[in-house]
Amino acid sequence: MTAVPTRSSLPAGFRWSAATSAFQIEGVRGAEGSGRSIWDDYLEAPGAIKDGSTADPACDSYRHPEADVSLAAGLGLDRYRFSIPWARVQPDGRGAANTAALDHYSRFVDLLLEAGVDPFPTLYHWEMPSAVEAEGGWLRRDTVDRFADYAAIVVDRLGDRIAQWYTLNEPAMTTLQGYAVGALAPGKQLLFDALPTVHHQLLAHARAAEAIRSHGSAQVGLVNNHTWVLPLNDTAEDRRAAALYDMIHNRVFSEPLLAGRYPDLAAWGLPAMPVQDGDLEAIRASIDFYGINFYNPTTVTAADASSPIPFDIVPTPGVAVTGFGPEWPIMPEALRDLLIDLHTRHPHLPPVIIGENGASFPEPDRAARVEDADRIGYLAGHIAAVGEAIAAGVPVEEFTVWSLLDNWEWADGYTQRFGLVHVDFETGERTPKASYDWYRDLIASARSAA
Ligand code: NOJ
Repeated sequence: MTAVPTRSSLPAGFRWSAATSAFQIEGVRGAEGSGRSIWDDYLEAPGAIKDGSTADPACDSYRHPEADVSLAAGLGLDRYRFSIPWARVQPDGRGAANTAALDHYSRFVDLLLEAGVDPFPTLYHWEMPSAVEAEGGWLRRDTVDRFADYAAIVVDRLGDRIAQWYTLNEPAMTTLQGYAVGALAPGKQLLFDALPTVHHQLLAHARAAEAIRSHGSAQVGLVNNHTWVLPLNDTAEDRRAAALYDMIHNRVFSEPLLAGRYPDLAAWGLPAMPVQDGDLEAIRASIDFYGINFYNPTTVTAADASSPIPFDIVPTPGVAVTGFGPEWPIMPEALRDLLIDLHTRHPHLPPVIIGENGASFPEPDRAARVEDADRIGYLAGHIAAVGEAIAAGVPVEEFTVWSLLDNWEWADGYTQRFGLVHVDFETGERTPKASYDWYRDLIASARSAA
């Protein structure tokens, strides 16, 4: 088993968290006046979800929030990252709030606080109300105002008890998988015509941040999923393909936030972003912390000239893989390298929070104690990489495990288990895995050393 990182590599006050998202754990879709979201629509398409499952009941967390809170508290977490679904709060994505949903999340926040865990909500973890998508979703600038209104409703109700908010989760996945290639909701295949969704998401985040700040002193940020891009071969063609992929996966999302500008899209023959006066200033001023989700590096090679996209994503040679196979290579040092690279490019980086890191491995479906040494090794390796980045001067302040629970992994349904806690999706039974005990002990030892 990989050794736990040395205590001295993580500064006193470093925070420990774990995460889930609403659609992946809650179940009771459509209950208590909830509207439909793009995921309700997407999962109905034949063949869209690998095992044909429907995210219901998933972990049945909407009906049993106490079970999750007690598992979060049992780990000794500083914060629990969860999401609030827009379509539960505003069923049509506009207009009056559904008070039953707000009551539910208000109770949930109280439960966490009573258990001594700081609630860290995400306002958008991919669940666009279907009615907003029908009007163009993130392709349309009007969605920015819709999202800011929704944010204001939630902050008005919960803001007295929330010290920090994430606005958007992984906008790159929404653009690339949701709008460009269609592997996630809303399932559009617009290739590079999906690019306006980048700007509209970042602007929506900025307007939501304004709503949050106008309410009080809470901190606000979003979570970008970064990857570390490697050319397959050391050739000019592959280096160029890697640079393009790095731009559309990482830099179009990070540079407006950290430097107030987009990378040079025209140099790649791509259209400019639909930026209006004041947008970039608003985006640049919008974060108190910078969230990074990291799972794996991405190796790319130049595509055949006939391909509509000039790069191919290929397996990373010579490394172990997770339950997804070669699609998800394991390379902890890539996290260290990307953190140091980001800090070099942006020396005034705000505090960084690792908003998700974790891995799925093949595990039993029925209730069981799982001895998940692979997951412990994966997490220990990445926490050590964070320690090395901190030692090199990168201001990382928090680490979040994805996920507290096994859950519904989007288009992969129940086939990928990421939890520190095993969930039997038939009975709802929750059984902590070896990684749960390991993470609990790591948190306790880091605290006692501080
Ligand atoms: C990132 C997403 O935010 C989360 O919803 C997903 O389950 C994990 N990655 C694992 O794929």
